[in-house]
Amino acid sequence: MAGLLAGRLALVTGGGSGIGRAVCQALAKEGAAVAAADINRQQAEETIQLLNKDVQTKAYEVDVSSSASVNTLLGNVKQDFSVAPCIAVNAAGITRDKFLLKMDEKSFDDVINVNLKGTYLVNQAFGRAVAEAKLELASIVNISSIVGKTGNIGQANYAASKSGVIGLTKTAAMELAKFNIRVNCVLPGFIQTPMTETVPEKVMGVVVMLTPLMRMGKPEEIADACVFLASEKSSFITGVALEVTGGLNM
Ligand code: NAI
Repeated sequence: MAGLLAGRLALVTGGGSGIGRAVCQALAKEGAAVAAADINRQQAEETIQLLNKDVQTKAYEVDVSSSASVNTLLGNVKQDFSVAPCIAVNAAGITRDKFLLKMDEKSFDDVINVNLKGTYLVNQAFGRAVAEAKLELASIVNISSIVGKTGNIGQANYAASKSGVIGLTKTAAMELAKFNIRVNCVLPGFIQTPMTETVPEKVMGVVVMLTPLMRMGKPEEIADACVFLASEKSSFITGVALEVTGGLNM
């Protein structure tokens, strides 16, 4: 199968919905084998049904906030595909929006545990697997958010988790370069997915007005950036926080 990523194996977390699902589709279209992992196994299975049939694909259940679950995932993927993945895209994420003065500890912890700790755990387990397999080319793409740069009312927990992902990405880029692993993150603006369906229409209207390209983004547009960062088209790029926002908060 020809394509930018032919012969490569990609692990995608949050692969059961929205951006993660679009990433799975774009990677498979470019010839990568895909392991789609999500806390919702049923949705991950549904993603697999949508993928290019010429490449090997498999759905997995994982809770990225648990090291045991992440380590089991990496072990199962290696076993099923007979090789360690050389691409990881970390798209698993949640929101629990509340104003800071009303933020309960659980809402804060849950968001940090999935968005930041989960990204750390997968970066670590993937990094170990690549180092052990002595792969020559590997790439991690972490999905942060533009609000990790700017903050956002009602999202102290989420913005903090996404700022954390930027710091984690840059540090991992420094530490993992010696194992031939590039590490970058994407900062999406407001993208049409189930995550943003609950944002009130009025708020979305304001966001669109503040976006120079005057619209929300599509999951496919984030997926295209992930394909670029996963591929050798970005071979000299590491530690970058790539904004894919239609110009919002540039
Ligand atoms: P989504 O809600 O459609 O998809 C998120 C997926 O993550 C779901 O399938 C969910 O089951 C999975 N997930 C949740 N907790 C998990 C866990 N503990 N372990 C494994 N999987 C888990 O959301 P969307 O919009 O596709 O978001 C994907 C990523 O992009 C997230 O990290 C989100 O924070 C980020 N993002 C989204 C933006 C948007 O406007 N939609 C903007 C900026 C960033």
